[in-house]
Amino acid sequence: MKNGDRNRPPAGDTNDSQIIAHSTTAAAKRIRSTPSFKSCAGPTGELKLKTAKNILSISRLRIERGGTVILNNVDWRVQHGQHWTILGANGSGKTSLLSALTGYLMPTSGEISLLGHVYGESDWRELRKKIGLVSSSVRQMMADEEMALATVASGKYAMIDFWGRVTRAEKKQALKLLRQIECAYLAERPWQVLSQGERQRVLIGRALMARPRVLILDEPCAGLDPAAREHFLQFIQRLGQQKNSPALVLVTHHVEEIAPVFSHVLLLKDGGVLTAGIKATTLTSRNLTRAFETTVKLETHRNRYTLKVR
Ligand SMILES: Nc1ncnc2c1ncn2[C@@H]1O[C@H](COP(=O)(O)OP(=O)(O)OP(=O)(O)O)[C@@H](O)[C@H]1O
Ligand SMILES: [Mg+2]
Repeated sequence: MKNGDRNRPPAGDTNDSQIIAHSTTAAAKRIRSTPSFKSCAGPTGELKLKTAKNILSISRLRIERGGTVILNNVDWRVQHGQHWTILGANGSGKTSLLSALTGYLMPTSGEISLLGHVYGESDWRELRKKIGLVSSSVRQMMADEEMALATVASGKYAMIDFWGRVTRAEKKQALKLLRQIECAYLAERPWQVLSQGERQRVLIGRALMARPRVLILDEPCAGLDPAAREHFLQFIQRLGQQKNSPALVLVTHHVEEIAPVFSHVLLLKDGGVLTAGIKATTLTSRNLTRAFETTVKLETHRNRYTLKVR
């Protein structure tokens, strides 16, 4: 999306436009007018408080659009201390699941809860702030001339063009975050000169500004050269190991990108959960062969993976 298009209202009900909407001013307006998850609300529309053991909990999620079943009977729990990777063939439902999590794709039935609160009628907008998203759609919306410090600071409100209202405290927080993501030297550099790897880090900093409890990384290594990818993965490893790290959710097509810090794997197939659980027992040649309907062999070396298609 070009800069001039940044305030264009998102069109239709498709996944990409919904995710693009994540950070725009137009999106903020849309959010105000978008109906909430009525199917998940209690009889009076108030949020139900569930046990807060799970950071994220999805039960029997079903999403249908125009006669197509996109997701069916999806159960998934993310608990404190876990970092997840989501894998699945093209069209298996990964992006749709993320869209549901970020509140842009309404469930037909089922329940999504975050930090013990069921997505409901009154404040899902507040809840979704607890989920940070770094995706190619968000990346495309950045203003060429915006300095990295401003990009990070604007993440506080998940909005672009918010610089005018940034307080001194927020600027300080953004500087601290830039240091945390090892990008302090980029503070005064405009978006257009940043390398792909630097952009990914700055977007992570931007997402962290809102103090999310879940940080979704949707194919974050796309476009990175092999060295930049490895540096980025090492950075993700360090981020995930930090004491107050949000739960990381990495969506990828490449097992090479599953850094050791990822503890769990969710495998999707045809809109449903093929299997989910601890990485050591879930990420296997057998399960990946079933997921991709092609015989594959997973090889492990020093806690990292490669996949051979036979
Ligand atoms: N709004 C919609 N209406 C109808 N079908 C949809 C809609 N959104 C997604 N789908 C369909 O749902 C399926 C899952 O799509 P999704 O984008 O979630 O897959 P994915 O796992 O992210 O695939 P990829 O790896 O190619 O990104 C696809 O068959 C897609 O065509
Ligand atoms: Mg996708």
